[in-house]
Amino acid sequence: MSALKIAVGCDHGGYELKKEILAYLEKEGIAYTDFGCDSTESVNYPVYASKVCKSIQSGECTRGILVCGTGIGMSMAANKHKGIRAACCSDTFSARMTRMHNDANVLCLGGRVVGAGLALDMVKLFLETEFEGGGRHTERVALLEAIENEQ
Ligand code: RB5
Repeated sequence: MSALKIAVGCDHGGYELKKEILAYLEKEGIAYTDFGCDSTESVNYPVYASKVCKSIQSGECTRGILVCGTGIGMSMAANKHKGIRAACCSDTFSARMTRMHNDANVLCLGGRVVGAGLALDMVKLFLETEFEGGGRHTERVALLEAIENEQ
């Protein structure tokens, strides 16, 4: 887990949960960059999704965590970025499986959907679970990339 550098971002709907996530990363000694926002004042989630995704595209960060009210807007915005596989999760099974099968590199959470306890369990699983790889999953991720390249 220590080789990870996590890009974290939120909008006003995710600000409180993001603070819990940052405290968790601090406690675990996991490196991160916080791309904002910095309060509960209304902002536009695509702006923060883009900052986080660009840091992954550039190699500055290895994975991302985005939090908005539902996690949905952040996942929509994140998945517009080439090379980004963002998963909006509300349960631990999905948070683990999206690493194992989809090689997701961004986890999106809803600050108005899940409590901090569940969210931190999802973050832990998302960060510690490796892509299973192998023929079929690698092929499917390649097909996702092929769709992206057709656009
Ligand atoms: C902001 O009110 C809310 O729309 C946003 O946080 C997010 O839930 C969008 O998907």
